[in-house]
Amino acid sequence: MDLLCKICSWPACLLARLPGIGPIVKMCFTSIGQKILMALTGLALVGFLVTHLAGNLLLFKGEEQFNTYAENLHSLGGALVVAEVGLFGAFAVHMCLAISTTAMSRRARKSSYAEQQSKRDDVILGGGGASRFMLITGVLIGAFLVLHVADMKFNLRDKLGITQFEHGDEESGNLYLHVRQVLRDPVTRVVYLVALLGLGIHLSHGISSAAQTLGLHHRRWNVLIRGGGMLLAWAIALGFLSIWVLGFLK
Ligand code: HEM
Repeated sequence: MDLLCKICSWPACLLARLPGIGPIVKMCFTSIGQKILMALTGLALVGFLVTHLAGNLLLFKGEEQFNTYAENLHSLGGALVVAEVGLFGAFAVHMCLAISTTAMSRRARKSSYAEQQSKRDDVILGGGGASRFMLITGVLIGAFLVLHVADMKFNLRDKLGITQFEHGDEESGNLYLHVRQVLRDPVTRVVYLVALLGLGIHLSHGISSAAQTLGLHHRRWNVLIRGGGMLLAWAIALGFLSIWVLGFLK
């Protein structure tokens, strides 16, 4: 864990030496700075998930609507590339901070227990709730993302001869048919099911925890914040799972 932490913090160490942004980067090395950055990147990723889900639900509308949406998205050109760089940056920062804050709280076990107590949610998962599964579900989502982006964006498994999807290449590409084929693949079915359930669990703690870190915390409203976070989390996860079901339909 400590070695992973050192590797992840290497880019930040370099940035900390730069004049201008150095002090801000140094603030991010503190435990509270890391928690704030984790909450901000986490909520940004939730924003991405909501728009990604809305776009992908067009798969239910049929080939024409979904492909038109994909074409419109790709026609954004440079703006899309900037958004993609930001998105992958947010994923990378969020994952590195998860490793770093876990290592930090393991080192300071006592204070970690006190903190967990205030953020536990036992509503769906008893005895500590989803908070106990943040790291493992995060790893599952990360593993899913590698397969997902490799298939959907780069058609990599096909290029390596592992699968035979017919519609993945850019020229003869039909994204609708490609997605339908990927969803039918047996490996996809298992990995997506496990990861999307993991996503529901991860977000059901993550959303309210991020809100709390950013100061949305009041005895009167906490139940509402947790309930709202959980509702949004499972709406996102079940939304994606409804698309996963497409893999079993004709
Ligand atoms: C069954 C559910 C899902 C389907 C059908 C789906 C579909 C797609 C498609 C078609 C693309 C390629 C977009 C393009 O090239 O224009 C894509 C990209 C991507 N998806 Fe998903 N997705 C699903 C779930 C998820 C989830 C749950 C996450 C995150 C946890 C996710 C993260 C991403 C990312 C990061 C990209 C790359 C974005 C980019 O570079 O533009 N997807 N997805």
